[in-house]
Amino acid sequence: MAQRHFISDNASGIHPQVLQAIAAANTGHQPAYGQDDMTIRAEDLFRRHFGADTICFFTLTGTAANIIALQSVVHSFEAIICADCAHLHRDECGAPEKFMGCKLLTAATDNGKITPATITPLLRDTHIIHRAQPKVVSLAQCTEWGTVYTPEELKTLSDFCHEHRLLLHMDGARLSNAAAALELSLKEITTDCGVDMLSFGGSKNGLMNAEAVLFFDPELATHTAFYRKQAMQLAAKMRFIAAQFVALLDGDLWRDNAAHANQMARLLAKEIGNDVEIVMPVTTNAIFARIPADCVEPLQQHYQFSLWNSHESIVRWMTSFDTSEHDVRTFAESIREQMNSLTASH
Ligand SMILES: Cc1ncc(COP(=O)(O)O)c(C=O)c1O
Repeated sequence: MAQRHFISDNASGIHPQVLQAIAAANTGHQPAYGQDDMTIRAEDLFRRHFGADTICFFTLTGTAANIIALQSVVHSFEAIICADCAHLHRDECGAPEKFMGCKLLTAATDNGKITPATITPLLRDTHIIHRAQPKVVSLAQCTEWGTVYTPEELKTLSDFCHEHRLLLHMDGARLSNAAAALELSLKEITTDCGVDMLSFGGSKNGLMNAEAVLFFDPELATHTAFYRKQAMQLAAKMRFIAAQFVALLDGDLWRDNAAHANQMARLLAKEIGNDVEIVMPVTTNAIFARIPADCVEPLQQHYQFSLWNSHESIVRWMTSFDTSEHDVRTFAESIREQMNSLTASH
């Protein structure tokens, strides 16, 4: 059996049911660019999950979903507030700045979560003409540290944003993992909490290059179709992206995949919890651990994973919908062996 990696939930392949759905959609001709029956079906499903006013646009990458969502609502003189560890800020190669010409204002966090208290200083003195004007707060659910906002935290944040005339965008590249961890529906941690726009992730949960931008107030999406086209994300054969979302959202596949990935992370944490320091609570499908610097490279020769913070020797291990218990136990054994051989050599 092919080896599983722990580098990212993007390293896994396509879920067999999703692949089957792509093959089943491969019959006859259909209108291109999202005018096909499958896209209409997927849009209905998004409305079923998130509410009747939901408008959606499919994209090929999560970066594009974030940019297209945000670009729809900002002018270049406005600013987007996000966590200092946000994918938007650290891992999108300056795409927000390139496409929107906007400033990102970052709030410091210890665990990936932003709060009204950390946003407040960024709103000071913004009436001044020389300052970029905050327009949107963008948070990630789950966060880049695998932590999860509770519905109460989200509601507090959205109330705060709306009181300050800010919109709330959620980067939900791993929203399904958060919903599975909280045992709530997708709606209960988005629309019901006052989120205005969502980037909904598919690729990390068993789909192939399929993400969606959702707006819960249609007025915010007035220009989105044009921004998506300019951003080269209007896929001609949209039906194959739509077919994947139908497979994911028509039943419980979205939750089953995410819950399984989360469970495998908990298992790994349990297996190695006595041997390594886990630096963040394991709630979803990521484990952040501090391991001796000398262990990183030898382990990476057998398993791919990220050295998240080389300065503090923190690594990130991620599980996926197809990570098995056997994968986890074998990996845990390698970690222990590596740690023991280091102790023995000292
Ligand atoms: C929090 C978050 N947002 C968005 C993305 C989407 O990235 P990509 O453009 O690589 O699909 C990722 C992927 O790692 C992510 O972790």
